Amino acid sequence: MSGDSAPNGATPPEGGGLVASVLSHAVVKVFGFLLLVLATFVWIGHSVTSLTGGRARVTGPVEMTPEGGETIFWGKGRCYTCHSMGGRGSAVRGPNLGQFGEKFAMPIGVRAAGRARERSEKTGETYATIDYLVESVANPGAYVVEGYKNEMAIVYAPPISLILDEIKAVILYLQSQGGELDIAAVLEPSEISQRYFARIQAATAAGGGDPGAGAVVYEDNCIDCHALKGEGSDLGPDLSAISGRGLKFLADAILRPTKTLTEGYETYVVVENDGRQTIGLKTRDDAVEIDITKATGEVVTIAKADIKEIAQDPLKSVMPDDLSEAMTVKDYQDVLSFLLLLKGE
Ligand code: HEC
Ligand code: HEC
Repeated sequence: MSGDSAPNGATPPEGGGLVASVLSHAVVKVFGFLLLVLATFVWIGHSVTSLTGGRARVTGPVEMTPEGGETIFWGKGRCYTCHSMGGRGSAVRGPNLGQFGEKFAMPIGVRAAGRARERSEKTGETYATIDYLVESVANPGAYVVEGYKNEMAIVYAPPISLILDEIKAVILYLQSQGGELDIAAVLEPSEISQRYFARIQAATAAGGGDPGAGAVVYEDNCIDCHALKGEGSDLGPDLSAISGRGLKFLADAILRPTKTLTEGYETYVVVENDGRQTIGLKTRDDAVEIDITKATGEVVTIAKADIKEIAQDPLKSVMPDDLSEAMTVKDYQDVLSFLLLLKGE
């Protein structure tokens, strides 16, 4: 999916003047798209409403009780498509979350306590029972139940798109399965749970992008310069841990690369005695020559004796600033949530 792939428009501006107006142009363009998309939805909503004379959609607030969570579990949350609860339901793709036969001797409210101990040992942080429950929904890849695949849905991304309150209610429902109900632990979360709640909120704020589609956007637009978990290119920084930097940083890094220039990836402008100019990252520097790696990946070796002038340009990034033009608003939201929700530690 890489290499010759699709319209990536990532062709970097070869030495082109990277001025503020270009940047703001790109940003304005993205916002323009966003407005257009919003306007379209509002318009569609309006026409549907006036046609049927009713409200287009009714979503009531979630009740912060196990019963509220039960409704989500067997409804909007689609948990029942993979999980059964004791004798209720018939799904087997995920573990039964109730008590069921020898394999599931304890319901999830009790089972979670043992899992929490395992997580504490593995991570060195102290997991309370509820922290495991929160983690299993917020970051299912962190602990994969033996005998199952890492294929639990990200339930706060499309198509399920639960919001934080709905997830909190579901947690209460899980907790009430054999365990002691502790609403306070959900409303005043521990550090571990809070971290996950923040992540869910960030994902929602990112426009509810679809991480699956974002993986494709990433392969089309980013993989030629970045690596994830050891795969890709090392021209730009490795992005495996980028979700830790948060939504705002990530958005800036994509829309305005120069605003967040990463240390060690400064852009050099080299002018040789014959007037030739080369722009890129300095990837080698020894006694007699340097290497400049251009945004295309091409490496140019320049003898130090030939250099007339060499300087860093803080207003330039090797990362193209016009990516937002190559991507649609949906692409942008999708790649944001893909990176924010990268699974695992
Ligand atoms: C697409 C199928 C799928 C959907 C939808 C799904 N899950 Fe899961 N879930 C799994 C699988 C598979 C596992 C086991 C692998 C793992 O641990 O990640 C799992 C694991 C879990 C666990 C850990 C169980 C244990 O024994 O420790 C919990 C808790 C859980 N899911 C809750 C939920 C809730 C709540 C929902 C709905 C909001 C949900 N799941 C939706 C597939 C799914
Ligand atoms: C032509 C190469 C190139 C392409 C294509 C590219 N990047 Fe970059 N990227 C870089 C370089 C070089 C840096 C370091 C300089 C900087 O911070 O601007 C960087 C920095 C970043 C950072 C900041 C990383 C950190 O640790 O500070 C993020 C996030 C990022 N890129 C995301 C993306 C995403 C998402 C895409 C695809 C939509 C993408 N990049 C496409 C070259 C590229």
